[in-house]
Amino acid sequence: MKSSKEQWGSRAGFIVAAVGSAVGLGNIWRYPYVAYENGGGAFLLPYFIALLTAGIPILLLEYALGHKYRGSAPLSYRRMSKKWEWVGWWQAIVSFVIVSYYMVIIAWSLSYTYFSLGAQWGGNTEAFFYESYLGTSDRFWNFGGLQWKVLLPLALVWIFVYAILRRGAKKGIEAISKVLLPILVVIMILITIRGVTLPGATEGLNVLLTPDFGALADPEVWIAAYGQVFFSLSIGFAIMITYSSYLAPRSDLANGSLIAGLGNAGFEFMASLGIFGALGFLAVKQGVGVDEVVASGIGLAFIVLPQIFNEFPGFNSLFGALFFGTLMFAGITSAISLLETGIASLRDKLGLSRVRSVNWVCGVAASLSLLYATKGGIYYLDTIDHFINAYGLLLAGLAEVLLVGWFVKRLSDLQSHINGVSDIRIGSWWSFSLRVITPIALISMTVLNVREELAAPYEDYPLTGLIVMGWGLTLVLLTAGFILQNVSWHSREESMTVKKTG
Ligand code: ALA
Repeated sequence: MKSSKEQWGSRAGFIVAAVGSAVGLGNIWRYPYVAYENGGGAFLLPYFIALLTAGIPILLLEYALGHKYRGSAPLSYRRMSKKWEWVGWWQAIVSFVIVSYYMVIIAWSLSYTYFSLGAQWGGNTEAFFYESYLGTSDRFWNFGGLQWKVLLPLALVWIFVYAILRRGAKKGIEAISKVLLPILVVIMILITIRGVTLPGATEGLNVLLTPDFGALADPEVWIAAYGQVFFSLSIGFAIMITYSSYLAPRSDLANGSLIAGLGNAGFEFMASLGIFGALGFLAVKQGVGVDEVVASGIGLAFIVLPQIFNEFPGFNSLFGALFFGTLMFAGITSAISLLETGIASLRDKLGLSRVRSVNWVCGVAASLSLLYATKGGIYYLDTIDHFINAYGLLLAGLAEVLLVGWFVKRLSDLQSHINGVSDIRIGSWWSFSLRVITPIALISMTVLNVREELAAPYEDYPLTGLIVMGWGLTLVLLTAGFILQNVSWHSREESMTVKKTG
């Protein structure tokens, strides 16, 4: 089988890049409020079950796919079975769509690192974010033109990410991950220590950690746990297939997946302690309950945390800059991985050089990201983020496990492949999780998501908006996968290889 064009410098380099991909925006602002909204301390149980039955098994499956078939996601699926190349494209396109807005959140973090100096957001952090900074338009379909305050940092982040990707897996991705990941971890430890030692922190920690066991009977809580594990571990995105295709042929896969899965979980758990400690501090300062200061998603990072930094007992600017700088670095190592999937796929399919492929993927994604730098950008970001995660990502994960476990039935092959190169031996829990538990979880999630969608329009956005940017986009994704499957491969050698092995 033709080997991949690129290779990591070492297996440690691969693990650092994989953890760098996993640890991202999802760990820092997503996990804390998902845990809070879904049973607090009791959420740890569904979370760990989701991690053990879907997170780590799928991570390992993707390592094995990339390592055995030695290609980008479309090529790896094609080498497994010709008919299923489209699943690889689908996953690569999901990553591509996600990165187009993910980069904008990184750009906001860059701005906020700067705004932290002297707390430039002032007293009303909500008005500052929506009005002064984003210049949010009055309604969904009012694009309102480009907002230069977002455009400028966005351009800077794109230049940085582009320069790294041009340098390739070893000299670019691996090298930058080795620098950024340790910085991230050290700063996050510092922030967490500060967060949990603030006066009033215990109030926040109590809210986060007090288990509401009743929540375990609620299917929504389980859905949230599986959703968080998918997004946070970067599975179903084609990333881990691409990254493991750059591994040397004899590389231990099993312990890598445990390190990445548990390391990522540890990071987000730690971040949630720091953030909830800080929320407790703000609540006590304002004389209200923690439930009144907590916000979800974007509001937590860009509205509530600036309020906390305003009240900090000392070093306000420093802690603000450290937090937003960390968010930015965490985002960058993930954004690189989201882009690399498309870059590797185009290279394999069309035989492009790295530089040409990087130019195409970054060029088109950067153009798309301009949509979110308009004054209506936040509406589009919110809608696309909702649909792409609820349908694009989860369905791509479902297609992956059904395909390997039920249609092409390659689990035992892949299991032997993993056991052939790893110290830890993988047992039947692995195939049982992938064949039974994960499909049940993902199908139930989709059914409940659709039910919720039909009950009320998401965020009360206009139906036209949801049809175009939500359902329309999901449909385009699927169709694009099939179209790309029918584009011919650049080299006959590639196809013949497929015939022999597929
Ligand atoms: N895994 C990445 C994150 O958590 C995408 O943000």
